[in-house]
Amino acid sequence: MKKYTIIRATFALSIIAITLQACKKDEAAEGIDLQLFNMAQETNGFTWYKNSDAWLAKSSGSGHNYSSLRTRYNTTAATQLDGDGKILTNASFPDGSLIVKELSNGTSVERYAILYKMDGHEFADANGWVWGYINADGTVATTAEDKGSGCTGCHSQQGTIDYMLMNAYFP
Ligand code: HEC
Repeated sequence: MKKYTIIRATFALSIIAITLQACKKDEAAEGIDLQLFNMAQETNGFTWYKNSDAWLAKSSGSGHNYSSLRTRYNTTAATQLDGDGKILTNASFPDGSLIVKELSNGTSVERYAILYKMDGHEFADANGWVWGYINADGTVATTAEDKGSGCTGCHSQQGTIDYMLMNAYFP
């Protein structure tokens, strides 16, 4: 009798393991993704692009599959904005800069696209940027451990300033 209980328990455990495996793409953020998620959820002290928190219709060039967006800059990143809240033409973002693009299909945030400057960071790309892509429920869309491999191509196109595209598509 005991033996069957063990077999049954083992079977149940393997079903759970398989289910967890299948859900992997919706994994809760941990490590660097959780850090970025926590930083992105903070809204105090941020400056909005063009000083406006209005939702903008995504541009034709957007690689982000949501109909609306708005972008904000922490105090360190905001040093690279002019008085109108636009990116300085010679902008170079210092370490600690955090840029959060909120993505939505309505008016509540559904996903955060995050750029965090930290030269020499374990997950920074060659230009010192860490790329985060995290759903508002705290699950990972694309892990920052990929070092922006799916992001940098598009964000290197002509007209970018230190990888920024808001200035190019919302001048
Ligand atoms: C196919 C092109 C494309 C890809 C791929 C792409 N983006 Fe973007 N991104 C844009 C465009 C265009 C904007 C300007 C706003 C808009 O229309 O979405 C933008 C804006 C942003 C911003 C606001 C800051 C700024 O001015 O650029 C962040 C942050 C961002 N993207 C992060 C990411 C991350 C993280 C990834 C990868 C997971 C990524 N992007 C992949 C095109 C792309």
